[in-house]
Amino acid sequence: EKGGYEHYMRKEIHEQPVALRQTLSGRIDIERGDADLDVSFPQGYLESLEEIQLVACGTSYYASLYAARLLEQFADVRTTVEIASEYTFDGGRDPWRTLVIAVTQSGETADTLGAIRRAGGAGARTLAVTNTLGSSVTRETEDSLFIRAGPEIGVAATKTFASQVTTLALLAVEIGRKRGTLAATDARAVLENLRELPGAVQQVLDEEARVLEGAERFVDADAFFFVGRQFGYPVALEGALKLKEIAYDHAEGFAAGELKHGPLALVTGETPVLSVLTEGARPGETLNNVTEAQTRAAPAIGVTDGTVETDSLDLALEVSEIGHMTPLVANIYFQLFAYHIADLQGRSIDKPRNLAKSVTVE
Ligand code: F6R
Repeated sequence: EKGGYEHYMRKEIHEQPVALRQTLSGRIDIERGDADLDVSFPQGYLESLEEIQLVACGTSYYASLYAARLLEQFADVRTTVEIASEYTFDGGRDPWRTLVIAVTQSGETADTLGAIRRAGGAGARTLAVTNTLGSSVTRETEDSLFIRAGPEIGVAATKTFASQVTTLALLAVEIGRKRGTLAATDARAVLENLRELPGAVQQVLDEEARVLEGAERFVDADAFFFVGRQFGYPVALEGALKLKEIAYDHAEGFAAGELKHGPLALVTGETPVLSVLTEGARPGETLNNVTEAQTRAAPAIGVTDGTVETDSLDLALEVSEIGHMTPLVANIYFQLFAYHIADLQGRSIDKPRNLAKSVTVE
Protein backbone atom coordinates (compact mmCIF):
# COMPACT_ATOMS: atom_id res chain seq x y z
CA GLU A 1 0.00 0.00 0.00
CA LYS A 2 0.93 3.61 -0.43
CA GLY A 3 1.21 4.18 3.33
CA GLY A 4 -0.44 7.60 3.36
CA TYR A 5 1.43 8.86 0.30
CA GLU A 6 -0.48 10.01 -2.74
CA HIS A 7 1.85 8.22 -5.11
CA TYR A 8 4.19 5.27 -4.92
CA MET A 9 6.89 7.43 -6.42
CA ARG A 10 6.86 9.86 -3.51
CA LYS A 11 6.69 6.97 -1.05
CA GLU A 12 9.68 5.33 -2.73
CA ILE A 13 11.66 8.57 -2.76
CA HIS A 14 11.04 8.82 0.98
CA GLU A 15 11.96 5.18 1.54
CA GLN A 16 15.52 5.80 0.41
CA PRO A 17 17.16 6.10 3.84
CA VAL A 18 15.64 2.74 4.82
CA ALA A 19 16.40 1.16 1.44
CA LEU A 20 20.02 2.32 1.63
CA ARG A 21 20.42 0.93 5.13
CA GLN A 22 19.23 -2.43 3.81
CA THR A 23 21.61 -2.17 0.87
CA LEU A 24 24.52 -1.54 3.23
CA SER A 25 23.50 -3.87 6.04
CA GLY A 26 26.31 -6.24 7.03
CA ARG A 27 28.36 -5.25 4.00
CA ILE A 28 30.68 -2.69 5.61
CA ASP A 29 33.70 -3.86 7.55
CA ILE A 30 35.28 -0.68 8.87
CA GLU A 31 37.93 -2.48 10.88
CA ARG A 32 39.40 -4.30 7.89
CA GLY A 33 38.60 -1.35 5.65
CA ASP A 34 36.72 -3.59 3.25
CA ALA A 35 33.33 -4.40 1.84
CA ASP A 36 31.76 -7.74 2.57
CA LEU A 37 29.61 -8.78 -0.36
CA ASP A 38 27.89 -12.10 -0.69
CA VAL A 39 29.49 -12.93 -4.01
CA SER A 40 32.55 -15.11 -4.30
CA PHE A 41 34.74 -14.84 -7.34
CA PRO A 42 37.16 -17.67 -8.10
CA GLN A 43 40.50 -17.46 -6.27
CA GLY A 44 42.72 -14.88 -7.96
CA TYR A 45 40.04 -13.79 -10.44
CA LEU A 46 39.70 -10.15 -9.41
CA GLU A 47 43.47 -9.74 -9.20
CA SER A 48 43.88 -10.83 -12.82
CA LEU A 49 40.88 -8.92 -14.15
CA GLU A 50 41.66 -6.83 -17.24
CA GLU A 51 38.42 -5.01 -17.86
CA ILE A 52 34.95 -4.41 -16.49
CA GLN A 53 32.00 -3.73 -18.77
CA LEU A 54 28.69 -2.52 -17.40
CA VAL A 55 25.58 -3.00 -19.53
CA ALA A 56 22.21 -1.46 -18.69
CA CYS A 57 19.30 0.68 -19.89
CA GLY A 58 17.72 3.94 -18.77
CA THR A 59 18.19 4.82 -15.13
CA SER A 60 20.28 1.70 -14.57
CA TYR A 61 22.60 2.93 -17.32
CA TYR A 62 23.05 6.23 -15.49
CA ALA A 63 23.72 4.39 -12.22
CA SER A 64 26.35 2.43 -14.14
CA LEU A 65 27.99 5.63 -15.41
CA TYR A 66 28.31 6.79 -11.82
CA ALA A 67 29.68 3.44 -10.68
CA ALA A 68 32.18 3.15 -13.52
CA ARG A 69 34.07 6.16 -12.17
CA LEU A 70 34.23 4.52 -8.75
CA LEU A 71 35.44 1.23 -10.23
CA GLU A 72 38.17 2.96 -12.21
CA GLN A 73 39.29 5.05 -9.25
CA PHE A 74 39.25 2.35 -6.60
CA ALA A 75 40.11 -0.77 -8.59
CA ASP A 76 42.31 0.78 -11.26
CA VAL A 77 40.71 -1.35 -13.94
CA ARG A 78 39.52 -0.16 -17.31
CA THR A 79 35.74 0.15 -17.07
CA THR A 80 33.32 0.83 -19.89
CA VAL A 81 29.59 1.40 -19.75
CA GLU A 82 27.34 0.54 -22.62
CA ILE A 83 23.67 0.91 -23.39
CA ALA A 84 22.52 -2.71 -23.50
CA SER A 85 20.71 -2.40 -26.84
CA GLU A 86 23.94 -1.09 -28.45
CA TYR A 87 26.26 -3.63 -26.89
CA THR A 88 28.51 -6.06 -28.68
CA PHE A 89 31.08 -8.05 -26.76
CA ASP A 90 34.73 -7.80 -27.56
CA GLY A 91 36.78 -9.47 -24.90
CA GLY A 92 40.05 -9.74 -26.78
CA ARG A 93 42.07 -12.94 -26.64
CA ASP A 94 41.10 -13.86 -23.11
CA PRO A 95 37.40 -13.03 -22.68
CA TRP A 96 37.25 -14.58 -19.21
CA ARG A 97 39.41 -11.71 -17.93
CA THR A 98 36.56 -9.31 -18.75
CA LEU A 99 33.84 -9.10 -16.12
CA VAL A 100 30.54 -8.05 -17.67
CA ILE A 101 28.00 -6.71 -15.19
CA ALA A 102 24.31 -6.48 -16.08
CA VAL A 103 22.75 -3.73 -14.01
CA THR A 104 18.98 -4.12 -13.99
CA GLN A 105 16.45 -3.32 -11.30
CA SER A 106 13.80 -5.69 -12.59
CA GLY A 107 16.15 -8.35 -13.90
CA GLU A 108 13.72 -8.74 -16.82
CA THR A 109 14.79 -6.04 -19.29
CA ALA A 110 15.08 -7.77 -22.68
CA ASP A 111 17.87 -5.51 -23.97
CA THR A 112 19.99 -6.19 -20.91
CA LEU A 113 19.29 -9.93 -20.98
CA GLY A 114 20.30 -10.01 -24.65
CA ALA A 115 23.56 -8.17 -23.92
CA ILE A 116 24.59 -10.37 -21.00
CA ARG A 117 23.75 -13.50 -23.00
CA ARG A 118 26.04 -12.32 -25.80
CA ALA A 119 28.84 -11.64 -23.31
CA GLY A 120 28.45 -14.98 -21.52
CA GLY A 121 28.23 -16.83 -24.82
CA ALA A 122 31.53 -15.28 -25.92
CA GLY A 123 33.27 -16.46 -22.76
CA ALA A 124 33.18 -13.45 -20.44
CA ARG A 125 32.52 -13.85 -16.74
CA THR A 126 29.12 -12.38 -15.91
CA LEU A 127 27.53 -10.82 -12.85
CA ALA A 128 23.99 -9.53 -12.30
CA VAL A 129 23.32 -6.52 -10.08
CA THR A 130 19.58 -6.55 -9.52
CA ASN A 131 16.76 -5.80 -7.11
CA THR A 132 14.80 -8.92 -7.93
CA LEU A 133 15.55 -12.33 -6.45
CA GLY A 134 14.92 -15.12 -8.93
CA SER A 135 14.60 -12.76 -11.89
CA SER A 136 15.64 -13.87 -15.39
CA VAL A 137 19.00 -12.11 -15.26
CA THR A 138 20.07 -14.20 -12.27
CA ARG A 139 19.69 -17.31 -14.42
CA GLU A 140 21.88 -15.86 -17.17
CA THR A 141 24.88 -14.93 -15.03
CA GLU A 142 27.52 -16.73 -12.97
CA ASP A 143 26.88 -14.58 -9.90
CA SER A 144 24.24 -12.19 -8.60
CA LEU A 145 24.46 -9.26 -6.27
CA PHE A 146 21.23 -7.93 -4.80
CA ILE A 147 20.71 -4.24 -4.23
CA ARG A 148 18.01 -4.89 -1.56
CA ALA A 149 16.02 -1.70 -2.19
CA GLY A 150 12.70 -3.48 -1.64
CA PRO A 151 9.92 -3.60 -4.23
CA GLU A 152 9.60 -0.54 -6.46
CA ILE A 153 6.13 0.02 -7.89
CA GLY A 154 6.29 3.49 -9.42
CA VAL A 155 7.31 3.18 -13.07
CA ALA A 156 9.98 5.85 -12.57
CA ALA A 157 12.98 4.31 -10.85
CA THR A 158 14.02 6.24 -7.73
CA LYS A 159 15.21 4.29 -4.71
CA THR A 160 16.71 1.60 -6.91
CA PHE A 161 19.03 4.14 -8.56
CA ALA A 162 20.51 5.04 -5.17
CA SER A 163 20.79 1.39 -4.14
CA GLN A 164 22.40 0.39 -7.45
CA VAL A 165 25.10 3.04 -7.13
CA THR A 166 25.65 2.09 -3.50
CA THR A 167 25.95 -1.63 -4.20
CA LEU A 168 28.38 -0.98 -7.04
CA ALA A 169 30.37 1.37 -4.77
CA LEU A 170 30.76 -1.51 -2.32
CA LEU A 171 31.85 -3.76 -5.17
CA ALA A 172 34.39 -1.15 -6.28
CA VAL A 173 35.82 -1.11 -2.74
CA GLU A 174 36.01 -4.89 -2.63
CA ILE A 175 37.72 -5.16 -6.00
CA GLY A 176 40.08 -2.30 -5.14
CA ARG A 177 41.07 -3.99 -1.88
CA LYS A 178 41.64 -7.37 -3.56
CA ARG A 179 43.76 -5.81 -6.28
CA GLY A 180 45.74 -3.77 -3.77
CA THR A 181 44.86 -0.52 -5.52
CA LEU A 182 42.81 0.90 -2.64
CA ALA A 183 44.58 1.34 0.70
CA ALA A 184 42.72 0.36 3.88
CA THR A 185 42.66 3.97 5.10
CA ASP A 186 41.18 5.20 1.80
CA ALA A 187 38.65 2.35 1.82
CA ARG A 188 37.66 3.29 5.36
CA ALA A 189 36.97 6.87 4.27
CA VAL A 190 34.74 5.63 1.44
CA LEU A 191 32.93 3.22 3.75
CA GLU A 192 32.38 6.00 6.30
CA ASN A 193 30.85 8.12 3.55
CA LEU A 194 28.56 5.24 2.61
CA ARG A 195 27.56 4.87 6.24
CA GLU A 196 26.63 8.56 6.30
CA LEU A 197 24.61 8.28 3.10
CA PRO A 198 21.17 7.37 4.56
CA GLY A 199 21.36 10.29 7.00
CA ALA A 200 22.44 12.71 4.27
CA VAL A 201 19.51 11.56 2.13
CA GLN A 202 17.14 12.09 5.06
CA GLN A 203 18.34 15.69 5.37
CA VAL A 204 17.33 16.30 1.75
CA LEU A 205 13.91 14.73 2.30
CA ASP A 206 13.42 17.09 5.24
CA GLU A 207 13.85 20.02 2.82
CA GLU A 208 11.03 18.90 0.52
CA ALA A 209 8.97 22.06 1.18
CA ARG A 210 11.73 24.16 -0.41
CA VAL A 211 11.71 21.94 -3.50
CA LEU A 212 7.95 22.37 -3.78
CA GLU A 213 8.39 26.16 -3.65
CA GLY A 214 10.96 25.92 -6.43
CA ALA A 215 8.67 23.70 -8.49
CA GLU A 216 5.84 26.21 -8.08
CA ARG A 217 8.11 28.99 -9.34
CA PHE A 218 9.28 27.13 -12.42
CA VAL A 219 6.43 24.81 -13.35
CA ASP A 220 5.58 26.83 -16.49
CA ALA A 221 9.10 26.78 -17.91
CA ASP A 222 9.64 25.86 -21.58
CA ALA A 223 12.32 23.30 -20.80
CA PHE A 224 14.67 22.23 -18.01
CA PHE A 225 18.42 21.74 -18.38
CA PHE A 226 20.40 19.68 -15.91
CA VAL A 227 24.17 20.04 -15.82
CA GLY A 228 26.97 18.40 -13.90
CA ARG A 229 30.57 17.28 -14.16
CA GLN A 230 32.26 14.06 -13.05
CA PHE A 231 29.85 12.23 -10.72
CA GLY A 232 27.46 15.11 -11.28
CA TYR A 233 27.12 14.26 -14.98
CA PRO A 234 25.16 10.99 -14.67
CA VAL A 235 23.09 12.70 -11.97
CA ALA A 236 22.22 15.46 -14.47
CA LEU A 237 21.22 12.84 -17.05
CA GLU A 238 19.10 11.00 -14.50
CA GLY A 239 17.48 14.24 -13.27
CA ALA A 240 16.40 15.09 -16.81
CA LEU A 241 15.09 11.58 -17.47
CA LYS A 242 12.84 11.69 -14.38
CA LEU A 243 11.36 14.99 -15.46
CA LYS A 244 10.70 13.78 -19.01
CA GLU A 245 9.11 10.56 -17.85
CA ILE A 246 6.67 11.83 -15.30
CA ALA A 247 6.09 15.51 -16.14
CA TYR A 248 6.24 15.14 -19.96
CA ASP A 249 8.24 18.36 -20.02
CA HIS A 250 11.24 18.80 -22.21
CA ALA A 251 14.36 18.18 -20.16
CA GLU A 252 17.97 17.49 -21.09
CA GLY A 253 21.04 16.54 -19.12
CA PHE A 254 24.43 17.83 -20.24
CA ALA A 255 28.01 17.61 -19.13
CA ALA A 256 28.29 21.16 -17.77
CA GLY A 257 31.32 21.92 -19.94
CA GLU A 258 29.34 21.06 -23.06
CA LEU A 259 26.75 23.81 -22.57
CA LYS A 260 28.93 26.30 -24.42
CA HIS A 261 29.53 23.83 -27.26
CA GLY A 262 25.95 24.03 -28.49
CA PRO A 263 23.07 23.70 -26.02
CA LEU A 264 23.62 27.28 -24.81
CA ALA A 265 21.76 28.34 -27.97
CA LEU A 266 18.59 26.88 -26.42
CA VAL A 267 18.95 28.81 -23.16
CA THR A 268 16.47 31.62 -22.48
CA GLY A 269 14.75 33.18 -19.49
CA GLU A 270 12.25 30.31 -19.70
CA THR A 271 14.74 27.45 -19.34
CA PRO A 272 15.84 26.89 -15.74
CA VAL A 273 19.27 25.29 -15.36
CA LEU A 274 19.65 22.80 -12.52
CA SER A 275 23.20 21.97 -11.47
CA VAL A 276 25.26 19.80 -9.17
CA LEU A 277 27.71 22.06 -7.32
CA THR A 278 29.25 19.64 -4.85
CA GLU A 279 32.35 17.66 -4.03
CA GLY A 280 32.94 15.07 -6.74
CA ALA A 281 31.38 17.28 -9.41
CA ARG A 282 33.94 20.08 -9.98
CA PRO A 283 31.69 22.75 -8.48
CA GLY A 284 33.84 25.77 -9.37
CA GLU A 285 33.99 25.01 -13.08
CA THR A 286 30.34 24.00 -13.14
CA LEU A 287 29.32 27.25 -11.47
CA ASN A 288 31.14 29.14 -14.24
CA ASN A 289 29.05 27.29 -16.82
CA VAL A 290 25.87 28.05 -14.88
CA THR A 291 26.84 31.72 -14.76
CA GLU A 292 27.11 31.71 -18.57
CA ALA A 293 23.51 30.47 -18.71
CA GLN A 294 22.42 33.11 -16.19
CA THR A 295 23.96 35.77 -18.43
CA ARG A 296 21.41 34.58 -21.04
CA ALA A 297 18.66 35.13 -18.42
CA ALA A 298 18.24 31.48 -17.36
CA PRO A 299 17.11 30.97 -13.77
CA ALA A 300 19.63 28.85 -11.85
CA ILE A 301 18.88 26.15 -9.31
CA GLY A 302 21.90 24.51 -7.75
CA VAL A 303 22.59 21.77 -5.24
CA THR A 304 25.46 22.84 -3.02
CA ASP A 305 27.54 21.39 -0.20
CA GLY A 306 29.06 24.77 0.57
CA THR A 307 32.25 24.16 -1.45
CA VAL A 308 31.54 27.17 -3.66
CA GLU A 309 29.76 30.46 -3.02
CA THR A 310 26.19 30.13 -4.32
CA ASP A 311 24.71 33.55 -3.52
CA SER A 312 24.21 34.22 -7.22
CA LEU A 313 21.78 31.30 -7.64
CA ASP A 314 18.02 31.78 -7.78
CA LEU A 315 17.59 28.74 -5.58
CA ALA A 316 20.32 26.94 -3.62
CA LEU A 317 19.53 23.54 -2.13
CA GLU A 318 21.89 22.18 0.50
CA VAL A 319 23.41 18.75 0.99
CA SER A 320 26.02 17.40 3.41
CA GLU A 321 29.38 16.66 1.88
CA ILE A 322 30.10 12.92 1.91
CA GLY A 323 32.94 12.61 -0.59
CA HIS A 324 32.27 10.66 -3.79
CA MET A 325 28.70 10.02 -2.75
CA THR A 326 27.67 13.69 -2.49
CA PRO A 327 26.29 13.92 -6.07
CA LEU A 328 24.16 10.84 -5.35
CA VAL A 329 22.58 12.79 -2.49
CA ALA A 330 22.07 15.77 -4.82
CA ASN A 331 20.04 13.46 -7.06
CA ILE A 332 17.36 13.18 -4.36
CA TYR A 333 16.59 16.89 -4.89
CA PHE A 334 16.15 16.24 -8.61
CA GLN A 335 13.77 13.35 -7.90
CA LEU A 336 11.67 15.57 -5.63
CA PHE A 337 11.77 18.39 -8.17
CA ALA A 338 10.53 16.13 -11.00
CA TYR A 339 7.84 14.73 -8.72
CA HIS A 340 6.49 18.14 -7.75
CA ILE A 341 6.65 19.57 -11.28
CA ALA A 342 4.62 16.56 -12.43
CA ASP A 343 2.24 16.67 -9.48
CA LEU A 344 1.48 20.38 -9.96
CA GLN A 345 0.46 19.51 -13.52
CA GLY A 346 -1.72 16.62 -12.37
CA ARG A 347 0.26 13.96 -14.23
CA SER A 348 -0.25 10.23 -13.87
CA ILE A 349 2.91 9.93 -11.82
CA ASP A 350 3.05 6.23 -11.02
CA LYS A 351 2.03 5.15 -14.51
CA PRO A 352 3.29 7.66 -17.04
CA ARG A 353 1.84 7.41 -20.53
CA ASN A 354 3.57 5.04 -22.97
CA LEU A 355 5.88 3.52 -20.35
CA ALA A 356 6.05 0.16 -18.58
CA LYS A 357 7.89 -0.81 -15.41
CA SER A 358 9.81 -3.56 -17.09
CA VAL A 359 10.52 -3.58 -20.79
CA THR A 360 10.51 -7.15 -22.04
CA VAL A 361 10.88 -6.47 -25.76
CA GLU A 362 14.12 -5.58 -27.56
C1 F6R B 1 13.46 5.18 -15.60
C2 F6R B 1 13.22 3.76 -15.73
C3 F6R B 1 13.79 3.03 -16.90
C4 F6R B 1 14.53 1.79 -16.41
C5 F6R B 1 15.02 0.93 -17.58
C6 F6R B 1 15.83 -0.26 -17.11
O1 F6R B 1 12.82 5.72 -14.50
O2 F6R B 1 12.61 3.19 -14.88
O3 F6R B 1 14.65 3.85 -17.66
O4 F6R B 1 15.61 2.20 -15.63
O5 F6R B 1 13.90 0.48 -18.31
O6 F6R B 1 15.10 -1.07 -16.23
P1 F6R B 1 15.79 -2.17 -15.37
O7 F6R B 1 16.68 -1.52 -14.40
O8 F6R B 1 14.67 -2.93 -14.72
O9 F6R B 1 16.59 -3.04 -16.32
